[in-house]
Amino acid sequence: MQYEWWHEAVIYQIYPRSFMDSNGDGIGDLAGITSKLDYLAGTLGVDAIWISPFYKSPMADFGYDVADYVDVDPMFGTLEDFDALVTQAHDLGLRVIVDWVPNHSSSMHPWFVESRSSRDNPKRDWYVWKDPAPDGSEPNNWISVFSGPAWTLDEHTGQYYLHSFLSEQPDLNWRNPALAEAMLDTLRFWLRRGVDGFRLDACHFAMKDPLYRSNPVLERPEHGYKDLGEYDRLIHLYDRGHPDIHGLFRDVRAVLDDFSEERPRFSVGEIHLEGEEWASYYGEGDELHMPYHFGMLNGDWTAAWARGVVDTQEAVLPAGAWPNYVLGNHDEIRIATRYGARRARMATLMLLTLRGTPTLYYGDELGMVQADIPSDRQQDPWGRRQPGLGRDGCRTPMQWAAGPGGGFTTACPWLGTVDPDRVLNVEAQLADPGSMLNLTRRLLEVRKGSRALRIGRYEAIEGLPETVFGYRRRVEGESVSVYLNFGDHPVDVPAEGQVLVATRSGIRGRAGGALALGALDGAVLSS
Ligand code: GLC
Ligand code: CA
Repeated sequence: MQYEWWHEAVIYQIYPRSFMDSNGDGIGDLAGITSKLDYLAGTLGVDAIWISPFYKSPMADFGYDVADYVDVDPMFGTLEDFDALVTQAHDLGLRVIVDWVPNHSSSMHPWFVESRSSRDNPKRDWYVWKDPAPDGSEPNNWISVFSGPAWTLDEHTGQYYLHSFLSEQPDLNWRNPALAEAMLDTLRFWLRRGVDGFRLDACHFAMKDPLYRSNPVLERPEHGYKDLGEYDRLIHLYDRGHPDIHGLFRDVRAVLDDFSEERPRFSVGEIHLEGEEWASYYGEGDELHMPYHFGMLNGDWTAAWARGVVDTQEAVLPAGAWPNYVLGNHDEIRIATRYGARRARMATLMLLTLRGTPTLYYGDELGMVQADIPSDRQQDPWGRRQPGLGRDGCRTPMQWAAGPGGGFTTACPWLGTVDPDRVLNVEAQLADPGSMLNLTRRLLEVRKGSRALRIGRYEAIEGLPETVFGYRRRVEGESVSVYLNFGDHPVDVPAEGQVLVATRSGIRGRAGGALALGALDGAVLSS
């Protein structure tokens, strides 16, 4: 197998609104990111950054509603700022991955403005328009991910348009060849500007049933639907993931391959599926380089669960395909809140030692916590519609230093930060040898120095206490083993070797081949 940069890279996700504000308006921007590249490449030691959308946008979904795929929103800067970011990143050896939103544009995109202007506009078919049902209602029963019908009536032309997310995010019609070509061209635009790859947003939504049939409804469970939202009461057979999506991904791959001669370009898709269906998005090595694997996001936090997630992914991977893991992103509750601070340390140790490409979410290297934003102050449209589901809490500004602006801005930040003890920030943690930041840095350093951790085989270690998940990573001439105690009690683990890095400083191998792990401890041993 040939290993490219993205097999060995650790990716770091940046939510641009919240990383660094360079011009004192309280909102992060591209020049802010550029000013922190030294931190990313040097202090922290990641290999690639993925930047969430910074394109022109009315910000109905904070940039996931794109009004121009080939320009920067003034809020974030200019194309020149972007070029400067790429140049500096590359000088530091950092790869740059940008977000690409293929399923929908903004309703303010000129394409949609044209499309809705009349039924016979040449761009009418670039979006999905359908006649009302005979009684005037929606064309079928599809529900938007953000709740409510996935269809909105355009009074002026008397037809409904489809939006899998907000009504401000009309779905593009990938079955129209001119639209498909125009979208693929937007990839070429960024590839020419030097990007190393793309993260594809909500990408398996992009192809639906060509007959637009209604989804089957889940049989009502005996005790009612309980907390199932209206979206989850449908079986999503027809509104996403039509098999034709594979053709689209092959087209995307062909564009990337065209640009891969000087250096390989990369794609990772947001696809919330599991098992073989999930794995099908690798294609035969001719679709996505990888679909994101979200199995570690939620679980009952036992050794058996973690091992199950890993073993299942390893088992369903097609030949030659490469695994990956994430612990958080801009849609999920922060790991330090979801699992607790101690577990977050252990989870990070696991993330950075498993076989596969890890993605770190900005601020998780500090153990930043979920902010509790009251519903009347929610900025996220989803949270405003469905109290409790808002995502603002994981999108608060990066905490560079203690204090009100957190070193992020000299102004009032667009969202408040949470650092009551003044320890969840870069400055404080750099000074503390036992901090989450220094643990993460050490893990990245050990990983960088170990071929076994970067590309070695994975093999679970058998015969360990029930609360311990252990695995070995091996290449010719090097072997590393990892032990994670998911339990609330200390355990002794039979293990040989020298501790390279551990969640706590006191963890050492003992004579006689035993390793004493406290509750929620993890350790990496050379063996
Ligand atoms: C993806 C993004 C999410 C966004 C949605 C619609 O799930 O991660 O933030 O709201 O797509 O674009
Ligand atoms: Ca700014």
